[in-house]
Amino acid sequence: MINEKMLSLGKKSSVIREIFEYGKKRKNEIGAENVFDFSLGNPSVPAPEAVNETLVDLIKNTPSTLLHGYTSAPGDIGVRTAIANYINETYGTNELPENIFMTCGAAASLTISLNAVLNKGEEVVVFAPFFPEYRVFIEKAGGILHSVKSREEDFQPDLEKFEQAITEKTKAVIINSPNNPTGAVLSEETLVALSDILREKSEHYSHPIYLISDEPYRELVYDKETKVPYVTKYYENSIVCYSFSKSLSLPGERIGYVLVSSTADDARELYFAICGAARSLGYVCAPSIFQYLIPDALGKTGDIAVYKKNRDILYTALTSYGYRVSKPDGAFYLFVKALESDAKAFCEKAKKYELLLVPSDDFDYEGYVRISYCVSTEQIERSLESFEKLYKDYEGV
Ligand SMILES: Cc1ncc(COP(=O)(O)O)c(C=O)c1O
Repeated sequence: MINEKMLSLGKKSSVIREIFEYGKKRKNEIGAENVFDFSLGNPSVPAPEAVNETLVDLIKNTPSTLLHGYTSAPGDIGVRTAIANYINETYGTNELPENIFMTCGAAASLTISLNAVLNKGEEVVVFAPFFPEYRVFIEKAGGILHSVKSREEDFQPDLEKFEQAITEKTKAVIINSPNNPTGAVLSEETLVALSDILREKSEHYSHPIYLISDEPYRELVYDKETKVPYVTKYYENSIVCYSFSKSLSLPGERIGYVLVSSTADDARELYFAICGAARSLGYVCAPSIFQYLIPDALGKTGDIAVYKKNRDILYTALTSYGYRVSKPDGAFYLFVKALESDAKAFCEKAKKYELLLVPSDDFDYEGYVRISYCVSTEQIERSLESFEKLYKDYEGV
């Protein structure tokens, strides 16, 4: 008998993927330019020029057996040193290359971290709305997901509810800032308060509660004033799950890392558990060529101005039609209140106008839709008429 849980996970693709597949079919029927597909979070701007330049240079000037060979299991130490130096210079921290483990993107970083800290039946607090794969990753690691609804007015964590949600079984908390699907950035004030609660609860229950920071969108913020606080400065027992998928527009190359805070209790032991989890999951030696690329790419991003322009066009137009929209400070998603309580039914109706939106139910939040605006600006502009018609449809105009 094969594993039932895996069978059902494999058979049931995510709602986002289902919509994407529907979009492909529809594009074949009526032409790609007539379908407004806002389903996937696939970066729409090219990787920074430095990425291609360094890749060409690596291919020309690095011996093939080195370039394509195994690195050490946690990754090349030169690369990890460059990352630690960059973090310390940028955020004023004291992180160590020995506490960094190179991974195949944030998904791998998260599964490794959760498997490293969780024992069967322990709980992980997550703020809704959240990336749907968290549930899959937590349950596979033997944990139980405990969802805490964020405040609807600004999608910041509700700290009162958060405090009440922590039990003696709570082992970790996941935060994601800038957030998928709301684009909200966790404020410094909230992070300080959240850290205080975690410290107090860890002491009360006599075991560390780990703060896992899922950071694929760290650099994707739109205004200079918007700062994404670096978690290890605020809370000792933190683990950063970083990915270059979105910042460098390289989601298919699968490169990121896990960083264990140098100030964590027993940081060395925790790091070894990270190594053990990665080993048991088969995640050793992230793609070598993309590891070697990273030192030259640190701090660089694709053209964020394009995402900002898309956000502004969509936000301005949708609010002018009457939609209730949460203005994102980062990432590339718009979270919009559905025009009826059933977000799935709303998405079905949107299809009439060839708008492919993702209902919020899978993000464990009802009554909203996610619009991924990492598409061409031209597509955004052409979609506006459909959004207006959809609104009028509900008004009965
Ligand atoms: C919040 C969040 N976490 C993790 C991931 C996975 O990122 P990666 O492609 O680096 O595995 C994504 C991808 O969209 C995401 O939105």
